[in-house]
Amino acid sequence: MIEEAYILKLIQDVQSSRKYRDLDLPDAFLRDLIENECQYSKNKKVIKDNFRKKLHEVIAPYLEDIDYFQETKYLLAEYQKNSPNNDQMKSWAQSIMQKHASTRERLTHLESFYQTIWSNIGYPSSIIDLACALDPIALPWFNNPSLNDFYAVDIHRPRLDFLETYFQLFFPFAKTIQQDFIAEPIQIKADCALLFKEAHRMEKRKSGSTSQLIQNLDVQHIVISLPAKDLSGHHDLSDFHTRLIENVIQGHKLSMNMAQVGLELLYFIEKL
Ligand SMILES: C[S@@+](CC[C@H](N)C(=O)[O-])C[C@H]1O[C@@H](n2cnc3c(N)ncnc32)[C@H](O)[C@@H]1O
Repeated sequence: MIEEAYILKLIQDVQSSRKYRDLDLPDAFLRDLIENECQYSKNKKVIKDNFRKKLHEVIAPYLEDIDYFQETKYLLAEYQKNSPNNDQMKSWAQSIMQKHASTRERLTHLESFYQTIWSNIGYPSSIIDLACALDPIALPWFNNPSLNDFYAVDIHRPRLDFLETYFQLFFPFAKTIQQDFIAEPIQIKADCALLFKEAHRMEKRKSGSTSQLIQNLDVQHIVISLPAKDLSGHHDLSDFHTRLIENVIQGHKLSMNMAQVGLELLYFIEKL
């Protein structure tokens, strides 16, 4: 049994480390990673090493080179007093989405990406965007006349603060939530949840977590996306990722349809 004081020390060390302190990660997220490792080992060094490795795997691939403080300052200076026209807004949004791998890959087919989703599930009036990163910056391409509520969920505080400013300026119906939805289930009810490019990584962190998430969510539709190719672009992952999602929904009262837009596989899961 690993004592509470040791768990608190591991959390504190991360929160004060140069690498992570600015991210202000939720304690519940760090605790969940540690407690998960405690199931596999009783050795403190092994727990610490594996915890830091898992933390790095969740956070590091998406620590893009964005200075959120400066981007927020720019946003306020340019647009707080003078609203941009549609073209200016889209051009700024593209320049931001260009800086993050997941949204960059979607840039060439943004309109058809969201249109394909609505043509499969209808226009949701409320959306929870899980592990959102910079996906909410694409709101100008959503073209969803029914949208009244939008919740952007992530664990990365500076990214969420930047999104919050963006929402206040242009999409006041949208809100940010800093929460690890694996450690602390989402309590909000909505028509639809989006989980883009994260389910395969969730399974690496905690096997079975995608299925658990779907069961916990109080939504009718869950739209999951996964990459059709690996990062090098050489290996096709379609069958592998489709099997992953088939396993996730197996044995539950769920239906599934599929589509592909660009190099992104889309899985439309509906609760029956
Ligand atoms: C692969 S990116 C997501 C990309 C985004 N969904 C998209 O497709 O544009 C991973 C993001 O999920 C966040 N994240 C990872 N695990 C999370 C969790 N359990 N709860 C909340 N956010 C999480 C990370 O902080 C990071 O911003």
